[in-house]
Order: sequence, then structure tokens, then C-alpha cells
Amino acid sequence: MIYTDNNATTRVADEVIEEMLPYLGQFYGNPSSMYGFADTVNKKVQQARAQVADLINADPDEIIFTSCGTESDNAAINAALSTFPHKKHIITTAVEHPAIRSLCLHLQEKKGYKVTFVPVDKKGRLDLDTLYAAMSDDTAVVSVMWANNETGVIFPIADIAQKAKEKGIWFHTDAVQATGKVPIDVKAAGIDMLSLSGHKIHAPKGIGVLYVKKGLKFPPFLVGGHQEKGRRGGTENTASIIALGKAVELAKAHLPIMDTQVRELRDYLETQLLDAIAATSVNGDRENRLPNTLSIGFDAVEGESILMLMNQAGICASSGSACTSGSLDPSHVLMAMQVPFKSAHGTIRFSLSHYNTKAEMDTIVETLVPTIDRLRQMSPFWKDGKVV
Ligand SMILES: Cc1ncc(COP(=O)(O)O)c(C=O)c1O
Repeated sequence: MIYTDNNATTRVADEVIEEMLPYLGQFYGNPSSMYGFADTVNKKVQQARAQVADLINADPDEIIFTSCGTESDNAAINAALSTFPHKKHIITTAVEHPAIRSLCLHLQEKKGYKVTFVPVDKKGRLDLDTLYAAMSDDTAVVSVMWANNETGVIFPIADIAQKAKEKGIWFHTDAVQATGKVPIDVKAAGIDMLSLSGHKIHAPKGIGVLYVKKGLKFPPFLVGGHQEKGRRGGTENTASIIALGKAVELAKAHLPIMDTQVRELRDYLETQLLDAIAATSVNGDRENRLPNTLSIGFDAVEGESILMLMNQAGICASSGSACTSGSLDPSHVLMAMQVPFKSAHGTIRFSLSHYNTKAEMDTIVETLVPTIDRLRQMSPFWKDGKVV
């Protein structure tokens, strides 16, 4: 199998499994208990908290463990709304992950909030003028993802955070895709709240983090025990937290590899595909993208058909359609970027990790060239070597 769908989820690193296993079996104590056996576990949980804090330049007290990126995103928005009940406006982008987008649509449609979905241009870059003009006394929170999961386009988070701060508005960023791929410094960027998720960085599924800046009037979001300083009750998911600690330690060590080896592999794949297959284009700002992500559109073919044929060759990737909604419409991200229909439909997202090799990239190209050719022979939108 060739796995190039790391923005969907990642392989749990062997080192991470090794680190967590004793805490599933041998060391099963509840970290809150008052004896040495449990304290062993508590110490490891606190070590993991410090490791996560270290990755994003936070203090350990500012780290809340959650169950996933979605929970962190929801908690951040809901915290702002309950802290400022008189404010009825939210600013986010037109290209957020459903973890923010669906929540904001729900708040707009069912709860009477006004939401500004800031548009992007054809390269997926945010319209900052619209964003800044939308900030008002009624705005409870601005939530902008650090990097987009489909195109990898990176947003100017520090600038936006600064503008929100000047207006006294809480700023949240969904850094689920940015974590482990680009450096994150919450202090330098002036972030109030940040979400990340373990399963995107070679930790298991079901563990996430919400960073909350010290001093923010942040209400509890799971009311129960005293865990996570009373902000999120519930006995800790100890083995997964410990796994995450190891994963972030590895992610930090691998950042230079992301920026060199993985970026070079992605660029190699991109160049090979653009050279070998006509009527092909890259979606998103090629100058300012995550180093592992390639969103590429093959005109006049169906993304799902490409995925199916790649699957037969053992290659895993994603398409650019909103198949989760049961339709084959292009995703909201590609639509917001006004990617032409003929290319959006044939979009595939490859997302690499340091486990990928050049030989795998060659196999992908060798597979895709005849695959696209074959599909175009059958396509009503392709004639005499051209899109019609
Ligand atoms: C940008 C972004 N935010 C949030 C999430 C949701 O994270 P989780 O699967 O941990 O809930 C994802 C997952 O794909 C994502 O890509």
C-alpha cells in the first residue's frame, strides 16, 4: 500500500505505540488517586502536557486535553459565546473544516447568530479587508484555521490575531493541519485559543488539545470532576495522552524533515504530474502551502473514478468532492476558490508524511498517467486531446 492521505489521518508511530502500551496494561491507575501507583501515571500525563506545551511554546497549564480536534474547535467557539452572551456575531472563513463550519452554520440557522464567512481568492488566500471590516463590538470570536486541510494554504494567523486583539475580540485558530508541519508559536502569534488533534501527527485517534491562553476568562465546557483544572471534567484518557506526548516530541524533531525531505517529495510528485499529464492544475497558493499537501485537478475526469482506480493499485488519497454529504459536488473549499467545475471534479489531494519515499511517488505517477488517459477516453468532456 502507498499511503498519501496523511491529512485525513496518520499511521501511529511505532515509538508512540511503545510509549503508550504500558499505560493500557500495566499502569492502569487513575491519575487522580493518592497512591504511588497512580502517581506514576499522573507524572507521565503531566510530562505529556509539558511536551505539547513545548511544541507550541505554551505553558503546561494552558493545555487542556480533549477527545479530538472537533471537540476543541466546538469548545473554543462555545466558550467565547457563553463568556460574551450579549455578542451575537462570529467571524470565520469560507474554507474551514466542518468542525468549525458546521457549528457556525448551526449557530446561524438555529440559534440566531450572525456569521461572516470570509471569502478566499482563486488561490485560496483570505480576503483580509473583508475580515477586518467585519470585526465589530458585536463580534464574540474570530476563528481562522492556521492551514487549510484540502489545499494546505497557510493563513496569516499572527496578523489576524493582532487585529482581533486590538478590537478586544477573542481569537481562535484551528491548527489541526498545521501542527507538526510548520512551526507554531502561540505567544509570538498572539493566539487566545488553538486546537490540535493527535491522529494527524502519528498519535492515535480520539485525543486532542485545546490551548487556552492564561488569563482568558474561559468557562468549563465539560462540567464534572476537577480534571484539566475543572475546565474539562472526566477521567483522563491516559494512554492516548501519553501517546500524544511522544508524538509531539517526534513531530518537533521531524519539523526540519517536513520542510526538506517531505517538501521535496511533494514538489517532485507535483512536477512529475504536471509534466506528464496535460490539462492539470494545482489548487491553492503554491508559494504558501503546507509542505506535505498537494491538491491537484485533472480536467474532464471524476475524482472518485481516479480514487477507485488508484485504490486498485494500492494507492490511498482523497478527492476534492463533498462525498461526505452524499453528493459529488466539489467541496466547499474548491467552490469558495471558484476552481472551475471541470477541474474541481477531477481534484485529488495527496498528503505526505516522512514515511513516504521517492519510489512511491514514481509509482503514483506511473499509475496515474494511464489512469487519467483511460478515464479521459471515456469522458464526454475530452476530445482530441483537449477539454471540450
Ligand atoms: C482542519 C481540521 N480541523 C479539525 C479536524 C477534526 O479533527 P478530529 O478528527 O480530531 O475531530 C480536522 C480533521 O480532518 C481538520 O483537518
